[in-house]
Amino acid sequence: MSTDEARAKQEQLDPLRDRPEDGPLTTNFGSRVDDTDNSLSAGERGPTLMEDFHFREKVTHFDHERIPERVVHARGAGAYGYFRPYASLAEYTKADFLQSEDRETPVFVRFSTVAGSRGSADTVRDVRGFATKFYTREGNYDLVGNNFPVFFIQDAIKFPDFVHAVKPEPDNEIPQAQSAHDTFWDFVSLQPESMHMVMWLMSDRSIPRSYRMMQGFGVHTFRFVNAEGRGTFVKFHWRPVLGTHSLVWEEAQTIAGKDPDYNRRDLWDAIERGDYPEFELAVQLVPEDDEFRFDFDLLDPTKIIPEETVPLRPIGKMVLDRNPDNFFAETEQVAFHTAHVVPGIDFTNDPLLQGRNFSYLDTQLIRLGGPNFEQLPVNRPVAQVRNNQRDGYGQHRIHPGKSSYAPNSVSGGCPVLASPDAGAYVHHQERVDGVKIRKRSESFSEHYSQATLFWNSMADWEKEHIVAAYRFELGKTTHREIRERTVEQLNHIDHTLATAVAEGIGVRPPAEPAGRNHGRTSPALSLANSPTDSI
Ligand code: HEM
Repeated sequence: MSTDEARAKQEQLDPLRDRPEDGPLTTNFGSRVDDTDNSLSAGERGPTLMEDFHFREKVTHFDHERIPERVVHARGAGAYGYFRPYASLAEYTKADFLQSEDRETPVFVRFSTVAGSRGSADTVRDVRGFATKFYTREGNYDLVGNNFPVFFIQDAIKFPDFVHAVKPEPDNEIPQAQSAHDTFWDFVSLQPESMHMVMWLMSDRSIPRSYRMMQGFGVHTFRFVNAEGRGTFVKFHWRPVLGTHSLVWEEAQTIAGKDPDYNRRDLWDAIERGDYPEFELAVQLVPEDDEFRFDFDLLDPTKIIPEETVPLRPIGKMVLDRNPDNFFAETEQVAFHTAHVVPGIDFTNDPLLQGRNFSYLDTQLIRLGGPNFEQLPVNRPVAQVRNNQRDGYGQHRIHPGKSSYAPNSVSGGCPVLASPDAGAYVHHQERVDGVKIRKRSESFSEHYSQATLFWNSMADWEKEHIVAAYRFELGKTTHREIRERTVEQLNHIDHTLATAVAEGIGVRPPAEPAGRNHGRTSPALSLANSPTDSI
């Protein structure tokens, strides 16, 4: 029974898999073709004729094969699998797929790098995307996360600026690697809120050894809602059963040259040989009454909830056991969206999440060519779809009948509204009251203490890697003032770190600062052999 549930998506896909039997070559409208190597011409040495419909169709289709790559996370690798909870989570959420240990839900996961183009190397220093689509009986639920638990910016309105700074520079499209350039360091050194995330980026977490050995995080504080309507804040964590492992920088550089598909190949090969990647899903749960109990804002996506304060609670396991049949049809055309939610999972007012809830559908409308991309096989829910949305490019459904509006009395079969008891999604009834204002709460204004926490949690050799990474990446900036400004920012995090970085990039070490979140000094590091530039 449960196994059938896990296979529901594959059963939906099976009839759509185009495995033509042996037989004659045809055009797209089914006409048999006798020659696909010689175009129709006027005589053996004459011009090609317009009436050669086979030539025109073949070349026209080829001319239109490419679609825009994702504006971020362009390079990725995907796999199907299933998720199964360890026990019912009904106390916290009414989400159907989390109600019973017997329920297996099919999933599709796409791992990605962020900054590089579709053809870039896998092992660059970058954030990794970890996006999961759960095909639940109540509709698709997408957990669109990364392998770091925090993000660079607090408000989605900064995302275009941030991505313009991170991507290759506009005049010469250099470099593909994320952070070794002026615009990246210029932006982050002017945005102290990015300092925590940049620490993660300069750590070994940004060069995972394998997608099978990488954590994932929902990043934002989300909300569980149970059948009684009680909300609980929730942070999502994926934990790889194989453990979290990184490459070292020299390895990553060599592999990028020798096998740019390293992570993609590893995922594919592991699944082909039956060595299925497994990830445990864990949550941190915070009662709504405890919203203001922390010295940071739960709505601030540049902050973690320390696990010592709110321990992780494992809730289930995901297994990836099937490679896609066609990279383009499945991995490229899959469309994740933070606003794909199911009853029992809701948003918070995190301003980054609120903006994401706009951006994904908007970008997919252009990337996937119009409003019907949800009908693409990989995106179709296993739940029934029934509504009055009609027409548009790429419409695959045939809607019989006279009407596509409500209310309506002329034809039967008009979709009826569901009640919450019958599974309708009802937004959590949070009270919202405020004046229209472009100003963030003071509770978002502290940017350094969790970066310091991260630095202090590192072993000495990890600190050495972090310093070496700053020296390598920041050392590439051609503007002295950008290097100096970044070192000033690091000085707010840890004086030893700032000094060690400064010494490696030709900048005068900063004076030891004083005051809250300032002047922390960790024990001296032995950095004599840290590489500054080892390309
Ligand atoms: C794509 C994660 C912030 C816009 C992605 C993907 C992931 C991701 C994993 C790749 C999905 C796939 O594999 O197809 C995150 C995380 C964020 C974040 C964890 C912060 C916590 C943002 C923000 C915006 C944004 C703030 C815009 C305001 C996009 C867009 C895409 C994308 C436009 C391409 C989607 C597509 O073409 O299908 N993001 N993102 N992201 N993200 Fe984000």
